[in-house]
Amino acid sequence: GDTKVSMSLLEKGAFINYQRIEDNLVIIRESRLNRPLTLSEKILYGHLDDPVNQEIVRGTSYLKLRPDRVACQDATAQMALLQFMSAGMDTAAVPTTVHCDHLIEAQVGGVKDLARAIAINKEVYDFLATATAKYGLGFWKPGSGIIHQIILENYAFPGGLMIGTDSHTPNAGGLGMIACGVGGADAVDVMAGIPWELKCPKVIGVNLTGKIGGWTTPKDVILKVAGILTVKGGTGAIVEYTGPGVESLSCTGMATICNMGAEIGATTSMFPFNSRMADYLNATKRPEIANYAQQFAHNLKADKGAEYDQVIEINLSELEPHINGPFTPDLATPISKLAEVSKKNGWPDEIKVGLIGSCTNSSYEDMSRSASLMKEAQEAGLELKSKFTITPGSEQVRATIARDGQIEIFENAGGVVLANACGPCIGQWDRQDVKKGEANTIVTSYNRNFTGRNDANPATHAFVASPDLVTALAFAGSLSFNPLTDSIPTPSGKPFKFSPPSGFELPPRGYDAGEDTFQRPPEDRASVQVKVDPKSDRLQLLSPFAPWNGKDATDCPVLIKVQGKCTTDHISAGGPWLKYRGHLENISQNCLIGAINAENGEANKVQNQLDGSWGGVPQVGAAYRSAGIKWVVIGDHNYGEGSSREHAALEPRFLGGLAIIVRSFARIHETNLKKQGMLALTFVNPEDYDKLKGTDKVDITGLETFAPGKNLTLTAKHQDGTTDTIELAHSFNQGQIEWFKAGSALNLVCHHLGS
Ligand code: F3S
Repeated sequence: GDTKVSMSLLEKGAFINYQRIEDNLVIIRESRLNRPLTLSEKILYGHLDDPVNQEIVRGTSYLKLRPDRVACQDATAQMALLQFMSAGMDTAAVPTTVHCDHLIEAQVGGVKDLARAIAINKEVYDFLATATAKYGLGFWKPGSGIIHQIILENYAFPGGLMIGTDSHTPNAGGLGMIACGVGGADAVDVMAGIPWELKCPKVIGVNLTGKIGGWTTPKDVILKVAGILTVKGGTGAIVEYTGPGVESLSCTGMATICNMGAEIGATTSMFPFNSRMADYLNATKRPEIANYAQQFAHNLKADKGAEYDQVIEINLSELEPHINGPFTPDLATPISKLAEVSKKNGWPDEIKVGLIGSCTNSSYEDMSRSASLMKEAQEAGLELKSKFTITPGSEQVRATIARDGQIEIFENAGGVVLANACGPCIGQWDRQDVKKGEANTIVTSYNRNFTGRNDANPATHAFVASPDLVTALAFAGSLSFNPLTDSIPTPSGKPFKFSPPSGFELPPRGYDAGEDTFQRPPEDRASVQVKVDPKSDRLQLLSPFAPWNGKDATDCPVLIKVQGKCTTDHISAGGPWLKYRGHLENISQNCLIGAINAENGEANKVQNQLDGSWGGVPQVGAAYRSAGIKWVVIGDHNYGEGSSREHAALEPRFLGGLAIIVRSFARIHETNLKKQGMLALTFVNPEDYDKLKGTDKVDITGLETFAPGKNLTLTAKHQDGTTDTIELAHSFNQGQIEWFKAGSALNLVCHHLGS
């Protein structure tokens, strides 16, 4: 129709396209899938690049999709923007936003911590602010809030498809969006107009019956689901919530459930469009979207009889509050069993710190419920036994709870309001109350609790629970306390028992937007200069990689023959190196330093074939590059498993690598290598791995007739003068072969633009 509804109030000229979903589904139902579809199938297939020809088999096919938007957090945005810039486009192909939330360390409190972060990260923020302005992206300054909360408040909409460079991007499923966490390479593709590839997900249905209430919160739904499915159970699947219980959940509560779906490895999680989403859209000043979604509501819910690969039943009326942990989010304990289980396991009983908020649980509802408990306890004369911190998810939530009095309640009780940022949730926490290595317990309303996640102390036992439970437990200071049944002695001697928490789903007086922390792209973008100091050690502009020289490769030294497991962490280590993720040359100094050299069983020690000297992998690789010599890596099974970290593909390419030749690849890494113009090759006979030595030189022939499905030949030239001829397979399709020839996928984009 003619209706044009903007995706966001902050963007002109970008509209919701429900008609495309409708049209795509007609094509797909007529030609292939004449069966009831699940909700996520409808939204995904509604965003297909080529609905006529796309093969669709759940769990098997690779879908080519056209996402509506991209979101990046500040840590991952650096390399993504640098890469996008090298494509030579002047605007991103889809609306994109960048959010400054990951680089702010919690030390003393919101205001001071923010000022300190702005000083420390100035060059990164300056770069992001100018690059977003130049290329027409929305920029959310430090202090604006956490990416997922800002997306929910301003950009998410029912039936949308979004990718984000952060694992908790699925938070937007609370507003009926398919929102997936991806690596920077995928974000760059979509920003450059290249379709996004996703393995057609399986679908897990969670049928909610009954009604939520009392101490039970949406968080307990996902804590329960995590207990059932475990940290691996959602892999390759979208989790869809259905059933009459859905209507009893607030929109922000549904977002909490979807957010933490990342903990079970799910591609994403989502809810059908419903009245609670409409309430939230209205409260965030987007009634047009609510009305428009209503008109297309038939496409924003599952068909009757849709088939799921697995179904889980949860009766909300019977669901108990849970607390999950320590060290893993799938170890679920109902609160009534916690004292007993905790004692049996010897978990430290004393709770040192309670932490509420974060992207997972910082809605107005969460804050007002927590404040209701805190107020009641204070009125009974109780004081917090544990330290207590509050992380508002956004400036809007902070300003609203400041206006409505919740912050006063928190601070009167001794709580510390941290900056509107990730803070302790991502380990940005300068914790002083316990020593490294000292066993202790903390309880958070966050999503992740892996060893060392919050405070880098491997002995910290971190538990995740609803903000309600965290608040009540912080008054008892003990894991043996069950607020539903137990009481706490008060100074007057009278025992105090909490009433069930109560709060407002949405602020009765509306949201207070607070300070304006958003930077719109300026009208005149041509005059904007992107700020990168040539002397910076954190940021470096990228030059496009050189195209293929048109010839077969000869006499390429093996840089390293890797023995055993080689994850993206072995290829591009994290930790202190993350500081350099915007500086390819500096971060390349970690290239493959964790991989074990099959020749000597050691990490980061390889022989330079030019002069016989021994050196680190990156140094020897760079030496070959200086001599104008391309090199190869030999690897074992599942090479590049782990994360989607694009640096693991950029670094070997930057250091002059030509080919990675392995027994098998982890698929995402294989694709990332191809995108950077590298040859990702596999042994036709896996035993041929044994024939190669770290001291070999290799020829790769067949590149002049490089074609899909056609094998290449490797000639291994051993030091003793003997040779072996080895057949290599590859999974390049025609488009990917063009990436190789152009030097990278992005080079091809520039090429098409004629720049
Ligand atoms: Fe992630 Fe926590 Fe921030 S889950 S987005 S680190 S608040």
